Amino acid sequence: MHPHTPRTPGTRQRRRTGSRLTGTLLATAALLAGALTAPTAAGADASSDDRTTATDPRPQAQAPYRNAKLPVDRRVADLLGRMTLAEKVGQMTQAERAAVDGDRDQITRLGLGSLLSGGGSTPKPNTPEAWADMVDAYQEKALATRLGIPLLYGVDSVHGHNNLVGATVFPHNMAMGATRDPQLVRRAAEITATETRATGPQWAFAPCVCVVRDVRWGRSYESYGEDPDLVTRMESAIDGLQGTRPEDLARPDRVLASAKHFAGDGDTEYGTSTTGTYTLDQGVTVTDHESFNRIDLAPYVPAVRKHHVGTIMPSYSSVKWTDAGDGKPVKMSAHKELLTDVLKSKIGFDGFLISDWEAIHQLPGDYAAQVRASVNAGMDMFMEPYAAPKFVETLIKEVEAGRVETSRIDDAVSRILRAKFRLGLFEKPYTDRSNADTIGSPAHRAVAREAVAKSQVLLKNSGGALPLKKSQKIYVAGVNADDLGNQAGGWTVTWQGQSGNGHFPGTTILGGIKEHAEQVTYSQDAAAPTEGNDVGVVVVGETPYAEGMGDVGNGGHTLNLSAADKANIDRVCGAIETCVVLDVAGRPQIVTDELAKTDAFVMSWLPGAEGGGVADVLFGRTPFTGKLPVTWPRSEAQEPINVGDTDYDPLFRYGFGLSARR
Ligand code: GLC
Repeated sequence: MHPHTPRTPGTRQRRRTGSRLTGTLLATAALLAGALTAPTAAGADASSDDRTTATDPRPQAQAPYRNAKLPVDRRVADLLGRMTLAEKVGQMTQAERAAVDGDRDQITRLGLGSLLSGGGSTPKPNTPEAWADMVDAYQEKALATRLGIPLLYGVDSVHGHNNLVGATVFPHNMAMGATRDPQLVRRAAEITATETRATGPQWAFAPCVCVVRDVRWGRSYESYGEDPDLVTRMESAIDGLQGTRPEDLARPDRVLASAKHFAGDGDTEYGTSTTGTYTLDQGVTVTDHESFNRIDLAPYVPAVRKHHVGTIMPSYSSVKWTDAGDGKPVKMSAHKELLTDVLKSKIGFDGFLISDWEAIHQLPGDYAAQVRASVNAGMDMFMEPYAAPKFVETLIKEVEAGRVETSRIDDAVSRILRAKFRLGLFEKPYTDRSNADTIGSPAHRAVAREAVAKSQVLLKNSGGALPLKKSQKIYVAGVNADDLGNQAGGWTVTWQGQSGNGHFPGTTILGGIKEHAEQVTYSQDAAAPTEGNDVGVVVVGETPYAEGMGDVGNGGHTLNLSAADKANIDRVCGAIETCVVLDVAGRPQIVTDELAKTDAFVMSWLPGAEGGGVADVLFGRTPFTGKLPVTWPRSEAQEPINVGDTDYDPLFRYGFGLSARR
């Protein structure tokens, strides 16, 4: 959040330590003991400037919290002072929209603070208007509560407003990391925020500031890279989503952001996942404090202090200290030292923590123990998609039994209300649709196409194979040459993404090549005759996945090329003099043996809907400038392998990328 918002005297003043983030958590806790003053007593006295217009029909129209002229903290204190325990706990509760659709009045009954669309949880039809109508219908139920507190609606807009058909679909974060262009990342985020807010949601569960240290992780493509400094540079995405001034959050083209997943989600040890069949995702980060601070925690300091991120999502994963404690892993959702002592007190995070989807269900003990442990560790809002009524009932009981302090509830609710006031939701709770006509516009798609072009990494180019010439006869093979679903990857219209064309508009890589060249033959399995062609382009890669479903070792996923892709390379590169291979995948694949068969090799990542950007660099309209954001292993056995490792001997090192001009 923004530190320079004027705080009225007496409200909570937080130390702004300039000290570097060093040392152990124990030292941190000692340093901060007593550094915080208690929040002001709830309820502000009404004064002459508190009056709002007498005709205002809203609940408590005359109350100070209704007065937009008052400082946010004053409004928060007034509203908090009016709330019952049940209303406070309701604000700490987030449900999946599908869970309330059959009985929307429960939004009013429970006083729910938030709803979300999980991946692929979309209205029918999946159109901008239907989205806005849906969100506004839920909002109406929230405004019908005694105090009329508006609803926050969150979605995973992680590479555009990707749940919406017709939205601009950007490359995933690993590709954006390859651009090394923070301003481009910010522009993409601004477009994402514009298209998201214009359809109702005011909150994006993005960006992932995860630092991927083992590309066998199914969420590798959601990371900007393996270097925490690179990830930090790409946090310009937060500025794009939220804006850079306190008042920006109330704009119709900005949304609340969520830095995720705090912390060490990309640094877990292979095979340590304690949930489901995952092998990395949601596993255990086995580390010492120095390494954890330097790699996993580092991006969160600027996310809070420089970018004022409004929310942070703790990770499903656990941390197991090798240099302190009893050596037992502790889930981030209940990690008091890291959530409260470090993130909130030491780093100064004054937004709110949102749990991940049913993440507290992975905590030890019964549901009451899970709720209690997470709230007391510092979690503020709970993504309990299908258990909202049970969560509300359980937390109320825990407070009434004295096992959760009212002060912890008031802290959580104050953080949530502060975000809602800053978003302008009390003044404009319904969707401002004025930017809806920009969704998927040529101007927006042009930025996505630029991002695609700048993300392409040229890893080999012998004999001047690239750039291609429009006069050349080009033979294209590989399913990923002509599959929008595969080139967009997971988190696209559905949670896991889906192969095929027709699910959403866009341009395939083949479509892009045809924009540039006059004679193009496409044969998905390279069965068509190759004679007479000047150059072969073989597009290999992965099919869509999301989260742990994409972990190597899960559901048949490996880093190896498929047999069909290998066969295409053998056929096309064995028959045509000049041969270019493109890899459309969420992470480096093992190409050590195939590399020698190619003249040129390009990593295209998951480019999203604008495949034309790939062709732009293939034909030299745009120069190759992309650089690897992760190390490229010779074999799967080399993982995890990261820049800075001793005896570092990858196929391509972190930061590698050739340039090739016309
Ligand atoms: C998922 C993901 C998280 C996402 C959330 C809501 O499980 O871990 O990144 O924001 O649930 O979809």
